[in-house]
Amino acid sequence: MDKVQAQYERWIYPEPVEDLEAWLAGGVFSVGDPKECGDIFWPATGYRESINILVAGCGANQAARYALQHPTARVTGIDLSEASLAHEEKLKAKHGLDNLTLHRTRLEEVAELGQTFDFIASSGVLHHLPDPVAGLRALGGVLDRDGVIYIMLYGRYGRAPVYMMQDLFRMLDVEQTEVGVALVKDAVKLLPPEHPLKGYERRSTDMKYDAGLVDLFLHRQDRPYSVPEIMEFTREAGMAFQAWVQPAFYNPDVAVPDNHPLYQRLEKLSDEDRWAAMELFGGLLSRHDFCVCRTDRPLDGYFIDFAHADFPVRAVPLPQGSSLAPATGGKPAMLTGPQRPPLTLPPPLAAIFQQIDGARTIAECLDSAPVNAPPEMLRRHGLRFFRTLWRTGHIAFRLKETS
Ligand SMILES: C[S@@+](CC[C@H](N)C(=O)[O-])C[C@H]1O[C@@H](n2cnc3c(N)ncnc32)[C@H](O)[C@@H]1O
Repeated sequence: MDKVQAQYERWIYPEPVEDLEAWLAGGVFSVGDPKECGDIFWPATGYRESINILVAGCGANQAARYALQHPTARVTGIDLSEASLAHEEKLKAKHGLDNLTLHRTRLEEVAELGQTFDFIASSGVLHHLPDPVAGLRALGGVLDRDGVIYIMLYGRYGRAPVYMMQDLFRMLDVEQTEVGVALVKDAVKLLPPEHPLKGYERRSTDMKYDAGLVDLFLHRQDRPYSVPEIMEFTREAGMAFQAWVQPAFYNPDVAVPDNHPLYQRLEKLSDEDRWAAMELFGGLLSRHDFCVCRTDRPLDGYFIDFAHADFPVRAVPLPQGSSLAPATGGKPAMLTGPQRPPLTLPPPLAAIFQQIDGARTIAECLDSAPVNAPPEMLRRHGLRFFRTLWRTGHIAFRLKETS
């Protein structure tokens, strides 16, 4: 048995959930869910019911959760840990998930299933493979042409304190045993208060249970990624990078005032360089959530291109659950939504936002907004505003077919 399998047989990850319905009722936020993110993943069509989903490296709960939350979809979960799959089977029986199939299969050998998928989720898995590029290539090999792979990989800079601790515990021969875990807990308690891990601890849920501590500090095969490394990884695997699931982390729209020289310099960079710069600026990203697709997927169906002359007449802004609190008592209007930064909207921008109805294009929203400004100025500022809404995750776009 290889070392990664041995770990996940003994230390099932994540913490097994006994009742998915009760757990979900507690308001668990699921990053990268194909329905929640349907507008981001499939700008041409949106999420379709009855898709074929693969959860690659499903762990203890994830495949069952997808099957429960997407009852009309067919869900296949694969993992190399029998123990994790046994828990998934238990959840399948408990919740009557007839749409779920589970296989003990290595992700690298997924082609053996003889199936293709509209959506693949691989969260927290590829960075544990001996050859992550081969893993992504294998997933790409079973993806339909218009399909999407949602991936979560560890972030290089935000996890720096974790790797310091991994190095420490490796030097001390701390093993993946009860004794080892007890040593880890003691060491964390004894760290000086200014240790970089202290800040990480406040943001982590994995430090609250034993298998999480093993996963964090005693893993035998785990590598993090910076933004440029993700781009290289995607290209090497022969895939196309599509989008960040939480774009606000990778864009300066909220973090840097747009009248600051830093902002002007950031905006001169290519998309990839700007994302890389913002990762360095933010400093805390311990994970990257993004999606990739096949290189032969037609760009028309997914590429959000503000520079294209037709974009304002093709792109329909879609609300993503944010709500606008109107200006009151001298306070400006405020746009807020889950997992995204709040935006303060001066009256003309609030008026433009109110035109978004899921049917009007950008151009139509600008035409119908009660804003008194010369058309060219309205178009320039309006487009820039829609770009900020998109870059901060407050809206996505439906791309109408080109005529
Ligand atoms: C950190 S857990 C993530 C579990 C799940 N994706 C989630 O987010 O809850 C990693 C999982 O990937 C599985 N895994 C690791 N390498 C694998 C491989 N080569 N093929 C299939 N599964 C693998 C492990 O057994 C483990 O269950």
